[in-house]
Amino acid sequence: MLEYKEFVKYYDCLYLNKNYKKESKIINQVIKKYKKSKGKRLLDVACGTGNHINFLKKRFNCEGLDLSQELLSVAKIKFPQNNFNLGNMTNFNLCKKFDIMTSLFSGIGYLKTDEELKQTFQNFYYHLNTGGVAIIEPWFSESNHPEDMFHMRTYNGENMKISRITSLKRKKDFTILENHYTIAIKNNGIKKMNDTHELKITSHKRIAKLMCESGFKVKYMKHGLIGRGLLVGIKQ
Ligand SMILES: C[S@@+](CC[C@H](N)C(=O)[O-])C[C@H]1O[C@@H](n2cnc3c(N)ncnc32)[C@H](O)[C@@H]1O
Repeated sequence: MLEYKEFVKYYDCLYLNKNYKKESKIINQVIKKYKKSKGKRLLDVACGTGNHINFLKKRFNCEGLDLSQELLSVAKIKFPQNNFNLGNMTNFNLCKKFDIMTSLFSGIGYLKTDEELKQTFQNFYYHLNTGGVAIIEPWFSESNHPEDMFHMRTYNGENMKISRITSLKRKKDFTILENHYTIAIKNNGIKKMNDTHELKITSHKRIAKLMCESGFKVKYMKHGLIGRGLLVGIKQ
């Protein structure tokens, strides 16, 4: 079983073709449309290796937060000017307020219960200035969840080649993602590894309701950044 720690080394290679620039442009437009507070402080929650911060930091004073020390250490090396905090989105307290909070690429899908989602949205609300916005890219819901399938990503570097085949299966209210990696490193042979991720399938209507109950006025964009939808919570 491949530890998340090990996967971290390959994260950026595998997502080299993910269009973080285009996604950040859409985030910018959403901020422009809905944010009413004056400030420019942005916290990216479940920031991973900071790939959205790379583009958002041009306009905003960005910080990141994640549960994975390993992903954060990659982010810190890439963006030494920015602050990265270790924390759980359900209960962190940074003792300061932000104008924008983002949680992208389905980070909230890792929360297993409605209670955890609610705690997270209450925490987002608490950390926002009045007029600030929370922008949340959820995991798939019932209505847009793909059929069981295989998916493949590859990286073809000069000194390293990676293939990752993912089996995506639905099991009741969860998506089970089983990743099978083959990694070839120059002068170091080939290794094979795997890991499993479980993401909770919650309807976007339900997520919007939990955000409303936490105090937000909520707007929903059906397509969002990459077809998974986008929820915008406004702290009035
Ligand atoms: C698919 S990655 C997305 C990373 C990044 N946002 C991106 O777009 O590349 C999901 C992230 O959620 C983080 N995560 C999962 N559960 C978390 C929690 N309870 N609190 C904070 N981060 C969490 C993981 O460590 C991982 O970095």
